Amino acid sequence: MRLDRFLCETTDLTRSLAKKALHREEVLVDGELVKNPATQVDQHSRVTWNGEPLALVGLRYVMLHKPEGVECSARRGLYPLVRELVDLPHVERLQTVGRLDVDTTGLVLLTDDGQWSHRVTSPKRRCGKVYEVTLAESLDGAARNDAVARFAEGLLLDGEEKPTRPAQLAMRSPCVAELTLFEGKYHQVKRMFAAIGHHVVALHREAIGPLSLGDLAPGAWRELTEEEVALF
Ligand code: URA
Repeated sequence: MRLDRFLCETTDLTRSLAKKALHREEVLVDGELVKNPATQVDQHSRVTWNGEPLALVGLRYVMLHKPEGVECSARRGLYPLVRELVDLPHVERLQTVGRLDVDTTGLVLLTDDGQWSHRVTSPKRRCGKVYEVTLAESLDGAARNDAVARFAEGLLLDGEEKPTRPAQLAMRSPCVAELTLFEGKYHQVKRMFAAIGHHVVALHREAIGPLSLGDLAPGAWRELTEEEVALF
């Protein structure tokens, strides 16, 4: 790739600042001063900027156990961002794969690979997301059977034109449900329970397709293995 692009990929420099750094003779390639932004370099080139070695960062895939009070958005608002919990270079390039509400806990995936992210979230891939849902009031007996049937059929949520895709509901105890969704509408779990007259008091995502949190503690993260990345 061109040297100016390499500088943009490995630093916070914009293309025009990278050219200025080259013009100011701040960049060495394999020990030689290089000023031409079109010079070709690759991952084997030893590039330094002001004496600092620069290395290309490949695509990254991370799983994180989101605690409460942390936000899955790209910009800092009231709450810290999930990616601020991840200690990797150029963490600002990582995007969450879908979102959890600020008060929802559990499995979040982050990546800078947009195509992979699309594969995980695309409803066509039928990648089930498993939630543990704690309800304010018990849901059992005939009401439970009715809820299981309505979730399996699909519900029309307020403000939506199409019903939800078939979802799987099972009760772990009268107030604790396991819900598997194959899509990700805004506040979907809370809105589905609201549609059947139930209030969600706690929500935790346990798994996305074949990936689950395992023993990852709240706030902890790890990079996915190559095998895990290849699952999607
Ligand atoms: N559904 C919700 O209502 N909230 C979440 O955080 C995830 C799914």
